[in-house]
Amino acid sequence: MVSTVNMAVDLGGIKMRNPLNTASGTFGNGIQFEGFYDVGTTLGAITCKGVAAEPWDGNSAPRLAELPSAIMNSVGLQNPGVHAFVERYGAYLTGLREKGCQVICQIAGHSLDEYRQATELFEELAPFASGFEVNISCPNIVAGGAAMGATPAAAAEVMSAVRGLTERPVIVKMAPHDVAEIGRALEAAGADGLSLINTIPGMSIDIKTRKSRVARPTAGVSGPAIHAIAVRMVWECAQAVSIPLCGIGGVSSGADAAEMILAGATAVSVGTANLYDPTCVPRILSELEQWAEEQGVSDINELIGAFEC
Ligand SMILES: Cc1cc2nc3c(=O)[nH]c(=O)nc-3n(C[C@H](O)[C@H](O)[C@H](O)COP(=O)(O)O)c2cc1C
Repeated sequence: MVSTVNMAVDLGGIKMRNPLNTASGTFGNGIQFEGFYDVGTTLGAITCKGVAAEPWDGNSAPRLAELPSAIMNSVGLQNPGVHAFVERYGAYLTGLREKGCQVICQIAGHSLDEYRQATELFEELAPFASGFEVNISCPNIVAGGAAMGATPAAAAEVMSAVRGLTERPVIVKMAPHDVAEIGRALEAAGADGLSLINTIPGMSIDIKTRKSRVARPTAGVSGPAIHAIAVRMVWECAQAVSIPLCGIGGVSSGADAAEMILAGATAVSVGTANLYDPTCVPRILSELEQWAEEQGVSDINELIGAFEC
């Protein structure tokens, strides 16, 4: 059924045919899901796995553990570096753009210099990127990642370093703390949008071995268990900034996506749900369209931030 509601949204200059995006690291780089549905004609955008200027090995295994209503991961931003990423996925991602699906490339780094280097390489080698997402929130790496986004000043420094290097839209992937204050600092430093939240640091202990269930003592928790926390943070951030937000955290149904939109998200990313139900995105989209129709609006944008206190 074709929706009678306009579903198109604008995520800080990234014009999406509908609000659905994928959360970095949970969707490969799109091609891995082609056996389940046509990615390019379904999604509004995909966000690729975080990539740095040079390859990173990531953390030791085990890197994933299942928890009730959640998983925890300590992948540690394993990636092949920008050159190999473009070589492997450039043609596929160009094809997604041609089908009307926006492509957001995620930038990772251990230091300001590394963020700059990765941005410069993407800028030169990735004409298919509709925009960039700067990851300052990975909880699973020793240097960089969440440490780069821990305070408003540190977050703004990364954003300012990247801002001068590209004219394409730049959104920033935020950690699950102080989202109003850090969001304001990122907006002032030139961010076109914000995406939140990254995983929430947690611990899971195997009581027989007395060791962590992943190779590191702590890891990032994601999935349905974090959804209500993510909705609260999107709402808090939406009240603090005027740039658009992409809501992320435990979205596995149209109702979950609708909550994000009501809380103030312009776009919504599906993450962990892709891992246990790889066909979930088309279902979530049709449930979201049906909800928008039932709300009696002609444009999904009328529902952004329409939560009533
Ligand atoms: C296996 C795995 C890998 C991830 N890799 C990244 C990554 O490379 N960059 C990033 O910003 N977030 C990464 N994340 C976090 C997700 O993008 C998302 O913010 C988080 O999982 C919360 O959403 P969810 O509950 O829908 O999964 C990863 C999450 C998982 C489960």
